[in-house]
Amino acid sequence: MARIIVVTSGKGGVGKTTTSAALSTGLALQGHRTVVIDFDIGLRNLDLVMGCERRVVYDFINIINGEAALHQALIKDKHTDNLFVLPASQTRDKDALTPEGVAQVLETLSKEFDYIVCDSPAGIERGALMALYHADEAIITTNPEVSSVRDSDRILGILHSKSRRAELNLEPVREHLLLTRYDPTRVERGDMLSVEDVTDILAIPLLGVIPEDDTVLKASNQGMPVIHLEDSDAGNAYDDAVQRFLGQECPMRFLEAPRKGLLQRIFGGQG
Ligand SMILES: Nc1ncnc2c1ncn2[C@@H]1O[C@H](COP(=O)(O)OP(=O)(O)O)[C@@H](O)[C@H]1O
Ligand SMILES: [Mg+2]
Repeated sequence: MARIIVVTSGKGGVGKTTTSAALSTGLALQGHRTVVIDFDIGLRNLDLVMGCERRVVYDFINIINGEAALHQALIKDKHTDNLFVLPASQTRDKDALTPEGVAQVLETLSKEFDYIVCDSPAGIERGALMALYHADEAIITTNPEVSSVRDSDRILGILHSKSRRAELNLEPVREHLLLTRYDPTRVERGDMLSVEDVTDILAIPLLGVIPEDDTVLKASNQGMPVIHLEDSDAGNAYDDAVQRFLGQECPMRFLEAPRKGLLQRIFGGQG
C-alpha cells in the first residue's frame, strides 16, 4: 500500500509543482517507487518541470474515461529510476476528474508504488479537494506572506473536515509545513513573515524552508527537478526536507541572510 502525499496550498504560484517534482524525485532517489500525479487539469505544468512534456500521449482524464490503460499513460522519468509521472489533461472540462475515477486510479497505483505524490491545483474548490481527499500526508506549501498563510490555514481546515480520513474518522492526515521562496534579507527588513511568524500561526510541524533561488527557474526551464542541481541552495534544501520526511534528523539551513560587508567578513557577523 502506497502512502499518498498531497502537495497543497490554497494559493497559486507558491511552489507546489516545484515541490511535487523535487519531493517525488527525492523519494525515488532514496529507492522508493514513486509516482507523481498532476491534478492541475487544464494547466498541466508538472510535465514541463519534469521535462517529459514531449512524451505525453495519454493523461489522467484518458485513464478515468477508459480511453487508455494506466500503464500507457505513466511516463517513466528520464532522470531518475523508480519514478513515474501521470500528466494532467489540458481539457477545459474541470468536471472530467470524477471522485470515482480518482479513487480507482489511486487504488490501482497504490498496489504498485511506495509513494503517490499529488500535485494540487490552486484554490479550495473541486480540483484541490480531489487532490487532497485521499491523502495520508499533506505538504502545506506556504510563502512567508500573509495571503499565502491565510490560504494555507483554509486548506488545513478542509483537510480536517473534508478529507477521506476526516470523513471516516480515521487517524488524521499528517501535516507538514514547507515554507518556500523564503528570502531572509526581506524577512530582516520586515517585508516578509519569519519562520517563527508562520509556524506560530499555522501551528503544524515544519518540514523545511526552501530559499528563494534563481536556480529554481533555471531548472524548470531545463525540465530538470531542482533537487538534481548540486550547487542549488533550493535543491539542497529540498534534499534536506526529503530526509526529514523519511525520518532523519537534519538541521535547518538557509535561514540567515548572507553577510556581505567587508568589515563584517573580517570581524564576524554582528552586523
Ligand atoms: N524557491 C523558489 N525560488 C524561486 N522561484 C521559485 C521557487 N519556488 C518556485 N518558484 C517559482 O515560482 C513560480 C511558481 O512555482 P510553481 O511551483 O509552479 O507554483 P504552484 O504550483 O504553487 O503554482 C515558478 O515560476 C517557479 O519557478
Ligand atoms: Mg502548480
